[in-house]
Amino acid sequence: MTARNAIHFILNGKDVTLDAVAATDTMLDFLRIDRRLTGTKEGCAEGDCGACTVLVGRLRDGVLRYEPVNACIRFLATLDGCHVVTIEYLSGPEGRLHPVQQAMVDHHGSQCGFCTPGFVMSLYALWMEKTDPSETEIETAIQGNLCRCTGYEPIIKAAKAMTSLGSPVDDVLNVERQEVTKRLKSLQDGARVELAKGDSRSILPGSVDDLAQVLLDEPKATLVAGATDVGLWVTKFLHDISPVVFLGHLDELRRVEVTDKVIELGTGVSYSGSEAVLVEHYPHLKEFWDRIAGWQIRAMGTVGGNVANGSPIGDTPPVLIALGAEIVLRKGSDRRTLPIETFFIDYGKQDLKEGEFLETLRIPLPKTDTHYAAYKISKRRDEDISSVCAAFAVTVKNGKIAEARIAFGGMAATPKLASSAEAALIGNDWSEATLRHAAARLSGDFKPLTDWRASSDYRMRVAQNLFHRFWLEQHGDDAPVRLSA
Ligand SMILES: Cc1cc2nc3c(=O)[nH]c(=O)nc-3n(C[C@H](O)[C@H](O)[C@H](O)COP(=O)(O)OP(=O)(O)OC[C@H]3O[C@@H](n4cnc5c(N)ncnc54)[C@H](O)[C@@H]3O)c2cc1C
Ligand code: FES
Ligand code: FES
Repeated sequence: MTARNAIHFILNGKDVTLDAVAATDTMLDFLRIDRRLTGTKEGCAEGDCGACTVLVGRLRDGVLRYEPVNACIRFLATLDGCHVVTIEYLSGPEGRLHPVQQAMVDHHGSQCGFCTPGFVMSLYALWMEKTDPSETEIETAIQGNLCRCTGYEPIIKAAKAMTSLGSPVDDVLNVERQEVTKRLKSLQDGARVELAKGDSRSILPGSVDDLAQVLLDEPKATLVAGATDVGLWVTKFLHDISPVVFLGHLDELRRVEVTDKVIELGTGVSYSGSEAVLVEHYPHLKEFWDRIAGWQIRAMGTVGGNVANGSPIGDTPPVLIALGAEIVLRKGSDRRTLPIETFFIDYGKQDLKEGEFLETLRIPLPKTDTHYAAYKISKRRDEDISSVCAAFAVTVKNGKIAEARIAFGGMAATPKLASSAEAALIGNDWSEATLRHAAARLSGDFKPLTDWRASSDYRMRVAQNLFHRFWLEQHGDDAPVRLSA
């Protein structure tokens, strides 16, 4: 394996090479302090407000794809092989406004202006992807952007108008696409990148095999995928995380494959990257997936990271548990496969050995006669962490419940199956009474905590009510009680 000690990327069309990159250096500090590209703002420094939104383009299977990301929690080292586009790149000849910016002006989408570059960059990403976005698509695109003074209506009006002011076909990123693709291809040398020394050290392995080797050599290293968790350890808690091993750039871990039995996801697949295949097979996950964080975090954060961090309130583990997913763990060349629910041992304790990493997630394809649902209960509808999360997979044969997998997040120290409730379902009639009986058994499965997000009583009540909601939704027009007129 060849190695180099510098990263190479393109910033607003210009080549950049950096060798003095510390493990904890963020892209935002580099842009604002080093390059004085101060159009990109810092609001929260934790991925929540979108003021720091920039586009990052990367080749995926040879195709250049740009996504909005939060520069505040994106580590600088991970820009190797990317094209970074900031708000400054949008200005046209003689300072002419970009169609997205012009639409924001025309529709009074900005007051103090602090959030505006971030909104423009998210809308720019949307404009490049959808010629005529629906209101829902606009709202989904700006979930990760916070405006405290203008209000969202003018911004949504601007988003509706932006397509009439110019075509993405003529946009600089499209005009330059072939040339940038060629330049990015020339940067793909498959080499391991080793940056800095001592307390600042970080490594970008050249392949998954190399990652396995690096983790054997550096078993105590901090592994970083999308950094939507680890980024905050640095920006909020000022933790020393070196040596760091990055994996988000490895295409082999971004693999999405469907066999005749399972959906296989490499653990480096982002929330966004997993959405299409999951929703194709499990349409009930569409709304659920779109409520994970905002677009920027969905583009960065990985399903593997969401599982690996073992958070009791992570959104994907309950879903994956209910669907009967397995994970493949790898240490060196040894692999072992676990039902995903057994990975979560206790609060902050996962079945992960030193030097081991999550390599693949296997999600069975849907079964016939099975009713699926996934619910997220949070204080805010968008861009919020769950108070309670629930996922149901209930198989009904000849009017009787043959199988049930029901998993909850936010109800215990780990994401967990509701075994007593499941037992109360299996073998019984598929009826409202059975579902109510199972809901009552939930208190045997969980003793939820009270914290600032929700009280124990609230968590239990809402979890039990979700059984009722599940029943009503699965019955549609035949339901005895309707949720809406
Ligand atoms: C603004 C914001 C909003 C958020 N909203 C949500 C939300 O709605 N729902 C939700 O569930 N979460 C949410 N999160 C949390 C975050 O997205 C998750 O924790 C995320 O899944 C972490 O994935 P990552 O790839 O970013 O992991 P990282 O931050 O890179 O890593 C997280 C942990 O997992 C480990 N790790 C990562 N990949 C592997 C691997 N392949 N093998 C072994 N260990 C690994 C790392 O070492 C680290 O300990 C939010 C975070 C932010 C900042
Ligand atoms: S500064 Fe708030 S998301 Fe980055
Ligand atoms: S215009 Fe002031 S925060 Fe949005």
